[in-house]
Amino acid sequence: MGAIDYDAWAQTYDDTRGASPSVLRPMLTALGPAASRSLLDIGGGTGNFAKALADEGFHVRLCDYSPEMARRAVVKLSGAPVFVADAAHLPFAEGSFDSAISVNVLGHVEDWHSMLAEARRVIREGPYVMKASTRETLEANWVVEYLPGIRDHAPVHHYQRDSAIIDALREAGFSRVELSRVHYTEMVDGSIQALKHFPEVFLDDERILNTATLKRLPGAEREAGLAALRRDYASGRLKEIVARYAPLVGEYGDGSVFAAWP
Ligand SMILES: C[S@@+](CC[C@H](N)C(=O)[O-])C[C@H]1O[C@@H](n2cnc3c(N)ncnc32)[C@H](O)[C@@H]1O
Repeated sequence: MGAIDYDAWAQTYDDTRGASPSVLRPMLTALGPAASRSLLDIGGGTGNFAKALADEGFHVRLCDYSPEMARRAVVKLSGAPVFVADAAHLPFAEGSFDSAISVNVLGHVEDWHSMLAEARRVIREGPYVMKASTRETLEANWVVEYLPGIRDHAPVHHYQRDSAIIDALREAGFSRVELSRVHYTEMVDGSIQALKHFPEVFLDDERILNTATLKRLPGAEREAGLAALRRDYASGRLKEIVARYAPLVGEYGDGSVFAAWP
């Protein structure tokens, strides 16, 4: 498994990433009215979601493990507090924030159970709203047909089942947990789960390599898989593959949003 250099990724992250409305919608529904409530974005990266939630009226704070990600968030959030911190060991007192979020962070944190426990510890009434790519999301993605190694080269904690995450949230001390699915309708999010709806993007190395999933794959394996994918795109066979996965995408969507209340 290739480790990801988050400080290096920070340089190109915003080239293909933004606050996707398809993710924001279920998050805002779960969060409820902003009403000037405080919100911590855990693993907030360059601040795209924190900025969108600040615009909605939340008093946002952000923390991220990578100083370079955090540095970009400082610029974007114009004055909101930003911290360099490990999600599994948050440097905040119990009940410091009304609510919290994490978007696409769970699969990056080795000790993800501690991350959930820490989120529970630092919030008051909640909710903690967390978007993740789960095992169901991955198996519904036709990209695994070409790059099956995505399963093996993901960290062992990546791509948990929805049910395992719900159980872990309960163990972390959340008493109510609700699950909803993300369905991407636009290309604001450059993750592999959103990009599967835009197969032509897979013809462009620069776009496709700016994802954690492909960064982790060994180069030769990635190139062989992408070459096969591009051949099938040219012949028209890719359309059949995409159609075969469509029922799973309909059922499981492109990601899961967990809303959890203490
Ligand atoms: C896929 S990015 C998501 C960033 C942001 N939430 C977004 O949706 O744009 C994953 C982020 O997790 C951060 N990260 C990785 N390990 C972490 C840890 N142990 N604690 C906090 N953040 C971590 C990375 O630095 C990176 O910014």
